[in-house]
Parts: sequence; C-alpha cells; structure tokens
Amino acid sequence: MSGNLQFNKIMAAGLTAALVIVVARVGVDALYHTEPPAKPGYAVEVAEAEAGGGAAAVELDPDWGTVLPTADLAAGEKVFGKCVSCHNVDPANANMTGPGLWGVVGRATAGHAGFAYSDGMKAHAAEAPTWTYDQLYHFLGNPAKWVKGTKMGFAGIKKPEERIALIAYLHSKGSTGYPIPAPDPSRQPGAAPAAAGAAPAQPAPKEGAVATPPTGSTAGGPLPTGSASASAAPAAAQ
Ligand code: HEC
Repeated sequence: MSGNLQFNKIMAAGLTAALVIVVARVGVDALYHTEPPAKPGYAVEVAEAEAGGGAAAVELDPDWGTVLPTADLAAGEKVFGKCVSCHNVDPANANMTGPGLWGVVGRATAGHAGFAYSDGMKAHAAEAPTWTYDQLYHFLGNPAKWVKGTKMGFAGIKKPEERIALIAYLHSKGSTGYPIPAPDPSRQPGAAPAAAGAAPAQPAPKEGAVATPPTGSTAGGPLPTGSASASAAPAAAQ
C-alpha cells in the first residue's frame, strides 16, 4: 500500500517536473522568438514602395534639371563598365545578352527591336512605357526590385551619385534629343520646408506633398539654403 503511494508520489513529481520544463521552454520561446525577415537581404531598407509603375517612390528623386547639366560624364562612363558584359551603347545598337542601349533614355520600355524581353519587363512597360530619368534611376538602383521578373541579372548600383553620372552618360549616347527638364525647386533638398532633417533620400510622403506649389510665392524657392543655389545655376556651366 505505502509502496503504491510512494510510486504515485514519484510519478507526480516526475510529471510536475516535466510540466515545469515545458512551461519554461514555451516561456523562453515567447521571450526570444523573432520572426525571420521574409527577405533577409532587405532588412536594412525602409518601407518599400510598390515597384510597378514607379508612382510611389521611397526616395526623393534627383532634380534632373540641376544634376544632369553638371554630371560627370567620365565618371558615368566608368560606371558603365559594369554593364559592358551585357550591353553596348554604340549607334549600331546591337543586342547582346541585354538590349542595345544607344538612345535608351526616353526610349520605349522594352522597345528595342529584335530583343526578347522578359514577361516581367513587358508587364512593366504597360505601367511605365518610357525610360524616363526617374525610371532609369530606380531600375538601375535595384533592377529586380523595380521590375519584378526582369531577366537582367544585375544587382544594381546603390550610390545615387554613380547612378546619376551613369544616366547622364547614357543620355549623351544617342538620347540628347530627349530634353533635360528645368530645375524643379520641389526636388531640391533644401526647398521642402518639412523635409525632416537634411536627409534627402528618406522623406517619402514629400513627393506628393510638394506637387502643388503656388507658383508665385515659391519663385524664390531655394532661398533658405544659400549653398543649393550654386549648383542650381547650370546655365553658366554650359
Ligand atoms: C548580366 C547581364 C546584364 C548586365 C550586367 C546589365 N544588364 Fe541591363 N539588361 C540585361 C538584360 C537581359 C535585359 C533585358 C531585361 C528583361 O527583358 O527583363 C536588360 C535590360 C536593361 C534595360 C532596359 C532596356 C530596354 O530596352 O527596355 C536597361 C536600361 C539596362 N538594362 C541598363 C543597364 C545598365 C545601365 C547596366 C549597367 C549598370 C546594365 N543594364 C547591366 C542584362 C544586363
């Protein structure tokens, strides 16, 4: 009899210990469990824009009217060295692994004759029919992200200044007929009063917010930043 009781006590103690261990493990898991990121590589990035049409950009796009006339074409040619294994930019415009890029700035997206574009690029063309400066800027920053399903196997050029120089170089190669827009005060870092610090690459909502400037009052747009005006006078440089 007492032997049975003893046995029961031991069993109970064992079960209790097992229960404690289980509870403890659940508790620890709850404390330390972290969701793995869906795309580990993007962990650092801020909220992603929907890549499709390019309407929702996370970065404040460059003010092309200011940066293109002063861009460093030689630097752009150097950056293009990363493209030459797949593209040429000669007037002959032959396709290689990638389509010929002569005149690509302002050209129809997926529009070069004789090249078999991916379905992803064709779908992108339906939303963004032209290789505008902004489109190139985003595509070349992260091709696979901007054009889902593209077969351009290239990681992208992260540095904005390198992309700008590259686009200026491409513009000089058969695209000079595609106009450079006038400087746009709303795209200049100092021009947006609510730009939250001096980081021009971050404030996503600004793009929409600055789209309706009252023309008269913003004529003196860049005046809060004396330094911006130096680069805002490209006419003298030409
Ligand atoms: C590994 C090969 C490869 C490299 C490197 C590469 N590209 Fe491409 N590129 C392609 C392919 C392939 C396509 C077609 C993409 C598709 O159809 O999805 C393409 C498409 C493009 C397009 C779209 C052209 C059009 O007619 O719509 C542009 C612009 C472009 N590349 C620019 C560049 C630039 C600039 C670089 C260098 C910074 C570069 N590519 C590097 C292979 C490459």
